[in-house]
Amino acid sequence: MARINDNYLKLQAGYLFPEISRRVTEFTTANPAAKVIRLGIGDVTKPLVPAVLAAFHEGVDDMAKGESFHGYGPEQGYAWLSQVIVDKAYKPLGVTLKTSEVFISDGSKCDSSNILDIFDLSNKVAIGDPVYPVYNDTNVMVGRSGEANEQGYYEGLVYMPCTEENNFAPAFPTEKVDVIYLCSPNNPTGTVTSREQLKAWVDYALENDAVILFDAAYEAFITEENVPHSIYEIEGAKRCAIEFRSFSKTAGFTGVRCGLTVVPEELMGTTAKGEKYSFNKLWNRRQGTKFNGVSYPVQKAAAAVYSDEGWAQVKDVIDYYMDNARIIREGLTAAGIQCFGGVNAPYIWLRTPEGMTSWDFFDKLLNECHVVGTPGSGFGPSGEGYFRLSAFGDKEKVTEAVEKIKQKWGK
Ligand code: MLT
Repeated sequence: MARINDNYLKLQAGYLFPEISRRVTEFTTANPAAKVIRLGIGDVTKPLVPAVLAAFHEGVDDMAKGESFHGYGPEQGYAWLSQVIVDKAYKPLGVTLKTSEVFISDGSKCDSSNILDIFDLSNKVAIGDPVYPVYNDTNVMVGRSGEANEQGYYEGLVYMPCTEENNFAPAFPTEKVDVIYLCSPNNPTGTVTSREQLKAWVDYALENDAVILFDAAYEAFITEENVPHSIYEIEGAKRCAIEFRSFSKTAGFTGVRCGLTVVPEELMGTTAKGEKYSFNKLWNRRQGTKFNGVSYPVQKAAAAVYSDEGWAQVKDVIDYYMDNARIIREGLTAAGIQCFGGVNAPYIWLRTPEGMTSWDFFDKLLNECHVVGTPGSGFGPSGEGYFRLSAFGDKEKVTEAVEKIKQKWGK
């Protein structure tokens, strides 16, 4: 019989969001009349904007005619989309990239997992706690860790606690690490890494020969001036960082699937013999072998996000979600519930009322208020006693959810 990958058995529970779905389904089956308000998984609710939809349709129509039909595209994405990204997403930030450094993909969740293919297993990896579970679980899956201890920390991985005490900005690891995951605006805490903090991380990575895997999936939600949208705004970052971006939350592509990864040509690692080798070349090789690109109509739709019309429409939707974030943050704060994030990110990270555990609050909120959120402990041990609410819902429902929480736990 073929052996399974035993590393999967080290994973403690099901992936967080399916577990939430399971509990919600159980509740709705038992209470079919209950109208559940879903502020759990960060899934968008607004439809694609008209300019994006028009380009998407055009792409589909092109596929209907022999002269404009597209078969396999480049595994790295069409150069015209990479050029749009270079010109519209990065140039305004003062960041110069080549199209050969931009890899179009089916999303940043996949890329932030698949990137592990080009790193040797011997690398020491540091991740935040709490953290987007994908970073932790995929490192366990590839065999970079031992078993989890009773707290939930996996042997062999380095955890950087992000707590109220350090304003959710992790301290540098105390041991030598080779790969560091950073996410700003942060999922789940909704907080951001300031320019000074990001510069300190870049300097640290350069000094310690580490690579930063920078997840910027939520950069479009930044509202404050001077918060970096890209790690490449920091001098030297092209020599130490890979950046992930996504159309999912920015433009409502969670069901459409498109993202991108920037792997600068200057970024080098070492071979077993100690020679320098380009991560860009490796990623290109990996994508060429394991990936067949994103569909042509989807890439047409993605390019339209950055047209003048498309961006104005997309920005309106982002503003709508960020107004939801304000409603949650201000409403709950006024009711005496301690809230973080929600200013530059579509997530509000709150302290559970009455010192409840994260899952106890989840169950109470679901059963008594019919509101779904995400338990902080699902993002790591330091998330215990916290809870995440997503701002991607419908405004009326978000307002109703806030009122229900206020009535139940407000002071
Ligand atoms: C989340 O809720 O954390 C996200 O939707 C997960 C994801 O983007 O994969």
